[in-house]
Amino acid sequence: MSTRLLGRNNFGDPKNAGNLMSLEDAHTLLNEWVPNEKLRLHMKQVAANMKAWAIEKENADEQTALKWELAGLLHDADWEKYPDDHCRVIVEELERRNIDPDIIHCIASHGPAVFGVEPVNNMDKMIYAIDELSGLIHAYSLLRPGGYEGMEVKSIKKRLKEKAFAAQVSREDIADAISRIDVTLEELIEFIIRYQQTVK
Ligand SMILES: [Fe+2]
Repeated sequence: MSTRLLGRNNFGDPKNAGNLMSLEDAHTLLNEWVPNEKLRLHMKQVAANMKAWAIEKENADEQTALKWELAGLLHDADWEKYPDDHCRVIVEELERRNIDPDIIHCIASHGPAVFGVEPVNNMDKMIYAIDELSGLIHAYSLLRPGGYEGMEVKSIKKRLKEKAFAAQVSREDIADAISRIDVTLEELIEFIIRYQQTVK
């Protein structure tokens, strides 16, 4: 059915392990590929959540935290210009640039039902869990006069149950992603509220 299935499970070249893009280059790519400011903000928010999760929950070193951040920053980079080929284009671009395969696999597996690639490691699983939830939490912040100020976990849980609210956010994906990690929905919501509000 889907035209976006990637049709493979191996991404990048193992000999490129540790080959990270600079944050500056990642932002340049983003600015060139993603004219839509709202979409760029979404990627920056997911990146901030990913980086913070790596540091706070995974005790990641600087290099590993950068990997998590880069995956977040680039995961939807091709969404605006290549909607029918979303994921394939950025994956191939990062392969062409000889980027670390972990980052490429993480991006390729951020929507298993759409791209047909299963999340394997914690970085893969967390981007899957954070992506949609981050979008819903941001949508809710835009409705509140105080934005993120005083936002409560229980309000987000309520919005999740309202199918009409931020209807494009897949509740199924969120539930599936949470079922794959040793983290509660409440913990992840609290974490995202805390970190993504700092992103401008
Ligand atoms: Fe996304």
